[in-house]
Amino acid sequence: MQTTATAASTNAPVVPPVTAAKRMMLSVNNIEVVYNDVILVLRGLSLEVPEGEIVALLGANGAGKSTTLKAISGLLKTEDGEVTRGDITFNGERINGIDPDRIVRKGIFQVMEGRRIIADMTCLENLRLGAYTRRDNGVKDDLDMVFSYFPRLKERTGLAGYLSGGEQQMLAIGRAMMARPKLILMDEPSMGLSPLMVKEVFSIVQQINRDLGVTILLVEQNARMALQAATRGYIMENGKVVLDGTAEELRNNEDVKEFYLGGGNEERKSFKNLKSFKRRKRWI
Ligand SMILES: Nc1ncnc2c1ncn2[C@@H]1O[C@H](COP(=O)(O)OP(=O)(O)OP(=O)(O)O)[C@@H](O)[C@H]1O
Ligand SMILES: [Mg+2]
Repeated sequence: MQTTATAASTNAPVVPPVTAAKRMMLSVNNIEVVYNDVILVLRGLSLEVPEGEIVALLGANGAGKSTTLKAISGLLKTEDGEVTRGDITFNGERINGIDPDRIVRKGIFQVMEGRRIIADMTCLENLRLGAYTRRDNGVKDDLDMVFSYFPRLKERTGLAGYLSGGEQQMLAIGRAMMARPKLILMDEPSMGLSPLMVKEVFSIVQQINRDLGVTILLVEQNARMALQAATRGYIMENGKVVLDGTAEELRNNEDVKEFYLGGGNEERKSFKNLKSFKRRKRWI
């Protein structure tokens, strides 16, 4: 277990200085994404993920969050989507247009929205599947490592389809860890989970980041939890980033409070506005 090689690495929660020259692990520069040759979904989206951090990507339904993750992992190809403009670089290397399995080998693993574990396989089989690109001998040790983070998965020997929603989410994250990724793209890990389970999953996500130095780009509807776990965040609307900053800046931003965290300083007026704002955003 080792943290990243930066001089500032400690076990304490890391609040990185904004001004420090951070090594950017992932840079998405002004990308446009089109589905089926006609549907323009991302319209000049840019974001950066520094090595070793958790970065949150927030936004309303349909803003393009999952599309952004699929553009990075190469999975857009499986949905007839394409990056038609801009660049995505990972550790300095341009990766747009590359096949998804090659992107996994480079160290990026996406945990899909809705978990997507294989229901008629066991936990163990699902976890082994995560290691399919690996050729080293460390798979057995890594299974033990995953079970140490998620002890309850070890007890579940039946088919993964019978796991609870929270356990399936843990399995999906465990499967990503089996690929020994440098960067995990996580799509709404809190979806459909009870508040207690959300807390547990987020706490493990933070541990994985801290202990193993895995960088995480975290897409969430649960802005409150995401901005507690993350070091920085981006807010998307209509295929673009409209706001970004450190997690603290975003938590204290009045617009963010009003639209995403619920309850800004202004009383009452916000709820009605919030609803119409959301509705407007959906149909623009
Ligand atoms: N495979 C696809 N083909 C065509 N259009 C798509 C496809 N996938 C997504 N879209 C469209 O792209 C837009 C952005 O979708 P995306 O799934 O990226 O949003 P999102 O921010 O992840 O939303 P949510 O919070 O609901 O998951 C939506 O208008 C959606 O209808
Ligand atoms: Mg989505």
